Amino acid sequence: MAVRIAVGNHKGGSGKTATTTLLAAAWAEQGKRVLVVDMDPQGNASRRLGSAFDPNHPTLTTSEVVRSGETGVAAQAIRPCGWPGQYGELVHVIPARFDLDNRLSEAGVVGAVLRLANALEGVDDDYDITLLDSQPSMAHLTQLALAAAHWALAVADPEYDGVDGAIRFRDFVRDAKTLRGLGNPDLRFLGVVVNRADARVGAHRYQLDQLPATFGADLLTTDSTPETLAAPELALHIPERAAIKDAADTEIPVRLLPGAPARLVADLYTRLALCLFAKVTR
Ligand SMILES: Nc1ncnc2c1ncn2[C@@H]1O[C@H](COP(=O)(O)OP(=O)(O)O)[C@@H](O)[C@H]1O
Ligand SMILES: [Mg+2]
Repeated sequence: MAVRIAVGNHKGGSGKTATTTLLAAAWAEQGKRVLVVDMDPQGNASRRLGSAFDPNHPTLTTSEVVRSGETGVAAQAIRPCGWPGQYGELVHVIPARFDLDNRLSEAGVVGAVLRLANALEGVDDDYDITLLDSQPSMAHLTQLALAAAHWALAVADPEYDGVDGAIRFRDFVRDAKTLRGLGNPDLRFLGVVVNRADARVGAHRYQLDQLPATFGADLLTTDSTPETLAAPELALHIPERAAIKDAADTEIPVRLLPGAPARLVADLYTRLALCLFAKVTR
């Protein structure tokens, strides 16, 4: 079975979707099979993967999958992503569209929070990793993702609100686990990916300094070498880079963009993907 990772933060714009799509690309470059489940009605992950919902050629989306909730039904909604070559072969997606919002009104139905978990049962056995992108909210759609996941991964921009949103996400995972509210007592908090870091900004430097104390150094991403593990200040942070926006807007993996800056970003995600894969498989 795939290792399922739900990506979240209570705050929007921290880079949940960027992290989801760039990690998917990096894992594909490492030969991993990746399923992306888009649980945000904005459908940004679907579009950046070249798989936006097309009303002229409608296919099933996470909205229909969750509405049904039948065991294994998600298999019917999987499609290859729109990226070229090996990426398209290895990265598949269950896309979202805006009407995923309609599932919110069903939150009160008994057992509703388990519908995605049921729908995915047996479906991602042939993948190495399933990434569940979520919206900036702790409400029903994010809870569906968390109920289906093994791990919860926060993405935080190093500013007060970004870190605060990541703390709320971490605490929500802890409390939901304790209270068994998600029916998923095995859910674990994987850690925090720091994104959009800009060392020129004083507030960023301050937050980056505080992060090891806030989350614990082992919950930050590093290259997992003995040297970096012993030195939290060497944690792997994703900087603010134009190539990340360019990849999102042109719907291609960042490594396929021309120029050295894009390659450096792609190399950073290679390291991040190796770090996270080691954590979830150890
Ligand atoms: N490290 C980064 N450098 C530059 N732009 C980024 C970075 N991470 C995200 N972005 C851009 O910031 C915006 C918000 O990111 P997004 O991934 O959509 O956040 P979220 O899914 O958390 O709301 C998008 O336009 C995205 O392309
Ligand atoms: Mg998003």
